[in-house]
Amino acid sequence: MSQLNNKIAIVTGAASGFGEGIAHAYVAQGAKVVVADINGDGARRVADALGASATAFACDVSARQDVDAMVQHCVNTFGVPDIVVNNAGMTHDNQPMLQVDEATFDRVFAINVKSIYYMTNAVLPVLRARGTGGVILNVGSTAGIRPRPGLTWYNASKGAVNLLSKAMAVELGPEKIRVNAICPVMGLTAMFEQFLGMPDTPENRAKFLTTIPLGRSRNPGTSRPRRFSSPAIALNSSPASSSPWTAAEPFDQSTSTGACNEQGTF
Ligand SMILES: NC(=O)c1ccc[n+]([C@@H]2O[C@H](COP(=O)([O-])OP(=O)(O)OC[C@H]3O[C@@H](n4cnc5c(N)ncnc54)[C@H](O)[C@@H]3O)[C@@H](O)[C@H]2O)c1
Repeated sequence: MSQLNNKIAIVTGAASGFGEGIAHAYVAQGAKVVVADINGDGARRVADALGASATAFACDVSARQDVDAMVQHCVNTFGVPDIVVNNAGMTHDNQPMLQVDEATFDRVFAINVKSIYYMTNAVLPVLRARGTGGVILNVGSTAGIRPRPGLTWYNASKGAVNLLSKAMAVELGPEKIRVNAICPVMGLTAMFEQFLGMPDTPENRAKFLTTIPLGRSRNPGTSRPRRFSSPAIALNSSPASSSPWTAAEPFDQSTSTGACNEQGTF
């Protein structure tokens, strides 16, 4: 049986990379998905490929009115969301910390962190009004646990995402709203070259892979997006899941788990 039959999901940053993989995996599991992204054309491309179970919405997650309008679009089109995936994100290039200008710093925090504040403000009232709980998945990162040099401000933003996920989990648990953070280590997405801070050549990629215990990455766009997205599915269907792909870090014994993967299995 499909694990997400008739569930309604919002996935931000779903025009490419991890978000696109999650949107595909959710629809394959029976969910209806709002494909939200600042790249409206990309969002439409993904939604068109998914058919009637998906709808595209052009949305800058760092703009409160866009987030409010997107959540309203979800309610009007499919209904109150059961699952919200805060996946949209950006990084600065890998470089010495003083070379990152203030505007870039502000943008990283607006997209990676403040967007979750906006989304929470937009979805909590509708989840509470429905009264049957829900799931919020924030895409954090191992960058927020074991930072790499050259990514200082990005690391800090993901540290904030990891921690705010725990804080949200303990506060919203009594309302049956589970909050989890998924912490990937490396995916061959549009962001990868920025993380590397050098051209994505086979040699440079191989060097980077030596820093990952299992020595491998995921390409969510072209290879096994469903497998890549398995934590995003499992964290919806089983709060205590301990599938082989993840080392689960309990955020709260009764309400949440956080999937933190430092081995390179997703
Ligand atoms: N790729 C990795 O190795 C890696 C590792 C750990 C965490 N992450 C996180 O995974 C998430 C997805 O990134 P990805 O690797 O798939 O990269 P990606 O660049 O392919 O996807 C990011 C998506 O977010 C969208 N986006 C950017 N700014 C936005 C905004 N203001 N409003 C709405 N959408 C916006 C982009 O258009 C893009 O479609 C990010 O939060 C990233 O920090 C990635």
